Amino acid sequence: MDPLPSAIDVNSAEFSARQAVTAALKSRLRSDLHAARNERSDKARARHQEQGKLLVTERLELLLDPGSPFLEIGALAAHGMYDGGVHKAGTLAGIGVICGRECMISANDATVKGGTIYPMGVKKTLRLQAIALENRLPFVSLVDSGGAYLPLQSEVFPDADDGGRIFYNQAHLSRAGIPQLTAVMGLCTAGAAYIPAMSDEVVQVRGTGAIFLAGPPLVKAATGEEVSAEDLGGVELHARRSGVTDHVAEDDRHAIRTLRDLVAGLPPPPVAWMDQVPSRPPLHDPEELDGVVPAELSEPFDMREVIGRIVDDSAFLEFKALYGPTLVCGTARIHGYKVGFLANNGVLFSECAQKAAHFIQLCEKRRVPLVFLQNVPGFMVGQRYETGGITKHGHQMVNAVATATVPKLTVIVGGSFGAGNYAMCGRAYSPRFLWAWPGAKIGVMGARQAASVLISVANGQRHRAGIAPLSVEEEASLHTPVADAQEREGSAWYSTANLWDDGIIEPARTRDVLGLCLAVCARGPAPAGAGPFGTFRL
Ligand code: COA
Repeated sequence: MDPLPSAIDVNSAEFSARQAVTAALKSRLRSDLHAARNERSDKARARHQEQGKLLVTERLELLLDPGSPFLEIGALAAHGMYDGGVHKAGTLAGIGVICGRECMISANDATVKGGTIYPMGVKKTLRLQAIALENRLPFVSLVDSGGAYLPLQSEVFPDADDGGRIFYNQAHLSRAGIPQLTAVMGLCTAGAAYIPAMSDEVVQVRGTGAIFLAGPPLVKAATGEEVSAEDLGGVELHARRSGVTDHVAEDDRHAIRTLRDLVAGLPPPPVAWMDQVPSRPPLHDPEELDGVVPAELSEPFDMREVIGRIVDDSAFLEFKALYGPTLVCGTARIHGYKVGFLANNGVLFSECAQKAAHFIQLCEKRRVPLVFLQNVPGFMVGQRYETGGITKHGHQMVNAVATATVPKLTVIVGGSFGAGNYAMCGRAYSPRFLWAWPGAKIGVMGARQAASVLISVANGQRHRAGIAPLSVEEEASLHTPVADAQEREGSAWYSTANLWDDGIIEPARTRDVLGLCLAVCARGPAPAGAGPFGTFRL
């Protein structure tokens, strides 16, 4: 396979200008990630440590194999939401290696409002469970949580995708044979008590760990009974009398050692089904990705420049290169794993959609995972394209993307707009993982376009009512707030806070992040390969 050529001139002013924009975004990302991991009030930190508990970051470090990679999920979940301090939505989580075994790890951070569960905390846990289920990852929980964040109980408790769903999912993970191991490392009340209750095996820390459906204050209010936390749900009660706890730990370190022993004792993971050869670095430096993407998404760039900095040897076998050229399709390897790319080089035309549907069928039959690199303004609009059947052709692509059973990985490199987001495997199309670059923008359309649409709707109403169209000033006063709100809500930061993606990643990390994702998918369920029909050449 030939390496992709590159037209990037790293000494050009254009490259430097683009690199400077990315550098500013990376610096903001690093600073926000640092704050999310470390910025806690002295009071909360002191209260936590005076109980003899390790910080959540220390617990994680002890749990993971030294020097092994940790793929954090939702690192900036709830960023800027609530009072701004609900870092990581209260849970440090991701895929890590314990005794050589990849596991999903979810650890409450009790220094964030007592580890209580906010609406975004529920959403995050549901996402972690979905990843564990799809990829058959053992689920390890370090529970240290006061249960529902009571001021927002209406958003945490009653609905189908609220807190109850976490425990429902635990039952289904268990039914699917996915091991769930939990250490109780704080006072775990109500919802937080169900996590260990629904797990396969429970470790509880003496003195600090407790499990109860209602804590002492609520018990007193409900029944008048006065009882200490230890007597209500401590180790002696649960290990000796109730039988809720299976393993007693004398402190946090002991609990984590026990969890590691339990993981080590699990049956071996399934054998990887994916085609993999030894990994080889790209010929073009991944660090150069910082200077590839223009600051203005309206400016075109060649996504092959991105592919060439992600894949082994920069080697890429393009499929139908001359047909529907605004969608680049082809195969390559990432860290030795064979993948099929679908990458935008502009707006989607009928030919692109048909090419995509054809290519996805090939990958599905050959059990090759799909990688979507998004920079998509949407599908082409206008009478000529409607006449050509773009809706029908778009359907072919969307249908293929939705129903492909091979693992799908999506990276939003630039824009992700309109039905382009769907066709290129946005969140609603269940990619196994979805990452965003810092400059990514997501929305039903661009901010300026959305504001213009609303102005033309307003003028249409005025026309029907016999009123003169909006003046230039009125248009501006309508345009600015709408465009500003769309701009803010379209940013990667807003997306990641809302868990529309699994995290913002620096461009140069894309190859390694995708490699880790592929390693996880490789041990998940193998796709069927052959389907009920042959491949349709569209
Ligand atoms: N909802 C909202 N906020 C809560 C909360 C809850 N369920 N539980 C604790 N908090 C807040 C506290 O108000 C405090 O906020 P602050 O930092 O702004 O002062 C912070 O979390 C830490 O709580 P604190 O009691 O100071 O820390 P702690 O380490 O001594 O105890 C808990 C932590 C979670 C064990 C304890 O606060 C507790 O038992 N909470 C009630 C749990 C409960 O009954 N939940 C029922 C859910 S249905």
